[in-house]
Amino acid sequence: MTETDFILSNFDVSKASNGSVTWKTPSNIALVKYWGKQEPQIPENASISFTLDACFTLTTLEFRLKKKRPVTGSEFNFEIFFEGEKKEDFKPKIQKFFERIEQYVPFLKDYDFIIKSRNSFPHSSGIASSASGMSALALCVMSLERLLNGAEMTDEYFNKKASFLARLGSGSACRSIEGELIVWGNHTEIEGSSNLFGTKFPFKIHENFKNYHDTILLVDEDEKQVSSTVGHQLMNNHPFAQQRFQQANDNISKISEIIQKGDLKQFIKIVESEALSLHAMMMTSNPYFILMKPNTLKIINKIWEFRSKTNANICFTLDAGANVHVLFPESEKESVNNFIINELIQFCYKKHYICDIIGNGGTQLIVKNEQLKIGY
Ligand code: DP6
Repeated sequence: MTETDFILSNFDVSKASNGSVTWKTPSNIALVKYWGKQEPQIPENASISFTLDACFTLTTLEFRLKKKRPVTGSEFNFEIFFEGEKKEDFKPKIQKFFERIEQYVPFLKDYDFIIKSRNSFPHSSGIASSASGMSALALCVMSLERLLNGAEMTDEYFNKKASFLARLGSGSACRSIEGELIVWGNHTEIEGSSNLFGTKFPFKIHENFKNYHDTILLVDEDEKQVSSTVGHQLMNNHPFAQQRFQQANDNISKISEIIQKGDLKQFIKIVESEALSLHAMMMTSNPYFILMKPNTLKIINKIWEFRSKTNANICFTLDAGANVHVLFPESEKESVNNFIINELIQFCYKKHYICDIIGNGGTQLIVKNEQLKIGY
């Protein structure tokens, strides 16, 4: 599929003059990392992630048709509330998102919007909210498109276009529409993979990876000193950029085999190497920076110690921050949970951590009388 397949040409705004749609969409954790991109949000290498479950954003998009059809040069009209409070400072990001997606969803200026959003995790937790936030908003926009578009729209097209739109808001967001393992970026060995949207891992996932756990240790709840957007930019002219993109694509080939075979030991090697390679890119950028904190390293060392003592299939990964994601199989959850509680929680900020698990992606919610019901 190409960009032009996502342009909506036939729609009738009178089919939805006012109403609201709500989506609950999880975050995701990359196993092979996306770091480096070109305009418009095209990744330099393929990435693969576990979709999460407990870390999610809940977004309602309220829409009301404007009394007059918009004229050329008119503005997007929207308000945004986050956790009940009006958020003027969130507006530029949404404005940019709307500008980027308008050519594919040309009805945006026909409506006045109110966006109401909240996260299941603390906003200041250092957990990337852009993946869950942008994917939830993209799904809301697609639900509105579905109302306006008379023609049958398959769920497959709905999800692909939602992922395509989400990518234009934040790259990693395109991997949060569905579960359980999502690949984003062209890769010769992953059939159907694309730079434009995320696709489900096309091979059988070994039983060892069913219900895989991700316990997120919140080491630092402060705002990051360097945003992901700036980090991506620093991969332009980075001395190791080409080797890094090649390494990531090679790791996709390796991890694809590993996931099919269920080889937990090899999985650990790739996942930890990816996390450290990502942070090595940050440390060797110009200007250089470090997002890990002393407690990040203490946790990593404790995990290595525990693994060599017990042979447990526990490993860590990092995103663009100091928090540590501890990954382990369902079959080892009791011993690993005890280890986390007894030995790792002490390194978390205020002992904060989140127990998460591999999940299935976005869910539309039907909101009635302030009760939330799951449905389609
Ligand atoms: C380190 O998706 O947050 O988490 O596209 O600029 O919004 P933008 O960046 P973003 O980058 C995520 C980087 C990462 C790795 C990953 O999720 O693959």
